Amino acid sequence: MTFSWKEEAAKGPILALAPMSGYTDTAYRQLIKGIEPRTICFTEFTSVDGIKYGSKNTLSQLDFNPDEERPLVAQIFGKNAANFTEAAKIVEAMGVDAIDLNMGCPAKKVVSSDHGSALLKNPKLAAELVEATVKGTSLPVSVKTRIGINGLELEWFIQFCKDMENAGAQLLSIHGRTAKQMYTGVADWDPIYEVKKHVNIPVIGNGDIKSAADALAKIGNLDGVMVGRGTMGNPWLMREIAAAFNKEKYTPPQSFEDKLPTIFRHCELNVESKGEHRGMLEMRKHFAGILKGFEGASEYRARVVKIETLKEAYEVLEEVRLLIKNAKPLKTEFFD
Ligand SMILES: Cc1cc2nc3c(=O)[nH]c(=O)nc-3n(C[C@H](O)[C@H](O)[C@H](O)COP(=O)(O)O)c2cc1C
Repeated sequence: MTFSWKEEAAKGPILALAPMSGYTDTAYRQLIKGIEPRTICFTEFTSVDGIKYGSKNTLSQLDFNPDEERPLVAQIFGKNAANFTEAAKIVEAMGVDAIDLNMGCPAKKVVSSDHGSALLKNPKLAAELVEATVKGTSLPVSVKTRIGINGLELEWFIQFCKDMENAGAQLLSIHGRTAKQMYTGVADWDPIYEVKKHVNIPVIGNGDIKSAADALAKIGNLDGVMVGRGTMGNPWLMREIAAAFNKEKYTPPQSFEDKLPTIFRHCELNVESKGEHRGMLEMRKHFAGILKGFEGASEYRARVVKIETLKEAYEVLEEVRLLIKNAKPLKTEFFD
């Protein structure tokens, strides 16, 4: 069945896992979707130039499990319109369900190449890239952006969003920070609510959702929420949010012991998708979000950054389990 953002929005609030380069690979996405199947996942941002020229590394960023991740949105970035058309064809042939254009990344390397949030400075080119993508695919095309470059100019930003809609975007995901803010300060959702009043496509808000209560408080007139960093070390968050929107009760695992099967599952998914060596190297950064909030946590974090095998990971986690089980908990919630 063809995926449609409007139909998705009609079912209830859209719950999206934010694209996070270096984090939201196929293992992470399968982990989150395994806990909350309603989650719509985005791939990490992937270069259209690399896709067009068949770079192995680039294409491997788009690896996914077609049985576990649908609907999957491939996020692409670049500045060359012809490459967007070509990349869209290739990505569609790989079997994803929708394509998203990155117009929000503030990283120096990305912006200095006129990619990512640099496109906010050039709405004409940004619109051309949307059109070029639409030309290459029958899949829905969307745009993820930020509320501005150096500061907020609301009228200008609303016009930018309308331009993306007119160019063929079928959804906007908006992070409530300017590019200049990077990840500092607090996300401002008010401009996102304003944009929603001026476009006829679904709009998803993004920025600083750390709990189900945040999602309920922030959704306002929007069609959904997108959550990124809040899921690090807390892969149950999307399920908590889904339950809150459905007015259902859901209590995520509280103790380290109860969280362990999910942590093991993440390790296994990494190994399945990348092999043991690379998979475990990838796991190292995720352990930082997991091993905190108990006495001696820093010592274990220092150990896990050297882990190379699944067995080593199990051994460290088992040690932590025994330590925590025998010790008096410092906090009731170890992931606070
Ligand atoms: C480590 C990291 C990598 C990111 N990579 C991407 C990316 O590839 N594409 C993108 O559009 N945004 C990327 N972002 C931004 C997030 O998608 C999101 O907009 C931002 O983190 C704010 O949401 P949050 O407060 O829920 O994390 C990244 C953020 C982080 C922290």
